[in-house]
Amino acid sequence: MKAEIVVTGKLFARTQEAIEREFACHRLYEAQDRAAFLKELAPRVRGLATFGPNGAHAGLMDALPRLEIISNFGVGVDAIDLDAAKKRRIIVTNTPDVLNHCVADTAMALVLNALRKFPQSEAYLRAGYWATRGAYPLSTALDGKTLGILGLGRIGEAIAKRALAFGMKIRYHNRKRKDVPYAHDRDPVALAKNSNVLLIATPGGAETNKLVDAKVLDALGPEGYVVNIARGSVIDEPVLLAYLKEGRIAGAGLDVFADEPRVDPQFFALDNAVLFPHVGSATAETRGAMGELQIENLRRHFAGKPVKTRVV
Ligand code: 8YV
Repeated sequence: MKAEIVVTGKLFARTQEAIEREFACHRLYEAQDRAAFLKELAPRVRGLATFGPNGAHAGLMDALPRLEIISNFGVGVDAIDLDAAKKRRIIVTNTPDVLNHCVADTAMALVLNALRKFPQSEAYLRAGYWATRGAYPLSTALDGKTLGILGLGRIGEAIAKRALAFGMKIRYHNRKRKDVPYAHDRDPVALAKNSNVLLIATPGGAETNKLVDAKVLDALGPEGYVVNIARGSVIDEPVLLAYLKEGRIAGAGLDVFADEPRVDPQFFALDNAVLFPHVGSATAETRGAMGELQIENLRRHFAGKPVKTRVV
């Protein structure tokens, strides 16, 4: 008999097919009446497959009292109530490592595009301005600049390697100093002060909420850039918008926003912001590997084996 699981959001097509082959899946995202849907399944469902931003709150866990495992598609588990899961002895898994390269590539694309303004210069050409207004204004070089990584985890380290190849110097701030050949700063303000580009690669959640605020952006200064591939919640977004509009920082490269997929339209008018629709891990290869890991964790659990990538 196939184990019964609830799927909270539509998964990447290949993952969706694979998960539905192996498990008796119930699609919560298609339920008209969620409460009735969950009530009917409550006696049978032992697993939950979550899709990053959909998460799982304590109420959902209570509605499924036989739940043993929450397997998330995504490394970030900020949308899952981990304390509630721990209390109920529910295992939570995520999909780390398999996305490091693609997310680090995205981070470098944002650094390049924010400093060199390639998207803006292409828009300038497409608008016909090259012939009518002349050469596109000069931009800023990466070589010799300092990249300050806020949250030097596995993704942060992959970014550092790439940035070194671009001739950048690396600094970082983590609460605990790591055994790495990069200079450590004691807090985000010091890191911003010592960096040309502040790159946010921390986990999301309550502990990092609005960690990058006016004080940090003031320390970065009018020639500094901020790049965020982590979570929109890590930056105080209204403050960032004001600082970009007023030129109190030079620019930003953002893959994540406070209220995705809704993006504050004030961003759209800014020439000094490069905006991506949360595509950090969005390649067929990486999304496929994330899906395989999500399923492998469920498979192992229901075969009575330890899961591969446990968070709690
Ligand atoms: C995904 C992510 O886009 O892994 C994460 O935490 O933010 C991204 O890789 C997201 O999880 C989609 O579910």
